[in-house]
Amino acid sequence: MKNSAGRRIFKGPRICSQKFMKTYQITDFCHNMVLSHIQKGDFCIDATVGNGYDTEFLCHAAGPEGFVLGLDLQESAVLHTRKRLEQNCPGYSFLLVQDSHENLLARVNGSRIPGFPEGAACIMFNLGYLPGGDHSFSTKKESTLKGLSDSLLLLKKNGILSICIYSGGDTGFEEKDAVLSWLKELDSRKYLVLLTQYYNRPNNPPIPAFVIRMT
Ligand SMILES: C[S@@+](CC[C@H](N)C(=O)[O-])C[C@H]1O[C@@H](n2cnc3c(N)ncnc32)[C@H](O)[C@@H]1O
Repeated sequence: MKNSAGRRIFKGPRICSQKFMKTYQITDFCHNMVLSHIQKGDFCIDATVGNGYDTEFLCHAAGPEGFVLGLDLQESAVLHTRKRLEQNCPGYSFLLVQDSHENLLARVNGSRIPGFPEGAACIMFNLGYLPGGDHSFSTKKESTLKGLSDSLLLLKKNGILSICIYSGGDTGFEEKDAVLSWLKELDSRKYLVLLTQYYNRPNNPPIPAFVIRMT
């Protein structure tokens, strides 16, 4: 499907599943996992907008009747993603802000977001740095942990927090270790924590992690 400018439009969940079956990339894996938690009209958050692939995915999952909030530290990420959404998601409701996800709660409470009293259906964190981008804008342990803690306060019942965890290379291991420790400590009566491993892949493969709010 193409929009009025002739650009290809992401066709939504079914295509995502087909792509996932071919590639098994972590982003596709996470998209498939969160899809069953998002309904049309839901509120979703992309805490690390980057090139806007996840933001666009969330817009299509929540539909034009939903609302997507996206945050990124980099102005270029916000500008690039705004252009992407204007082209591929015309008529959809979204708000993109240049800010750290450590201010997530304040941003949600302080922004003119339509009322979603039950909270967010899905919050996505894609950690690390933008491939081909400025590595100094990599996510950091402290702000990530604050953003993740805020996310628990914003998640609705049966909502899902998705975290793509990267490590090694420029990223190091500090953030990964901190996030895994944080996940381990979450109250098992309130949250279901799921970790997946690319078990036989070498060189510190990424870890898809999910938190589902059960009560
Ligand atoms: C791996 S990329 C995200 C990829 C993105 N989800 C996509 O679909 O293209 C990580 C992004 O997190 C952003 N970032 C780093 N620290 C951040 C912070 N404290 N708050 C918000 N964004 C941050 C970086 O600028 C970078 O764009």
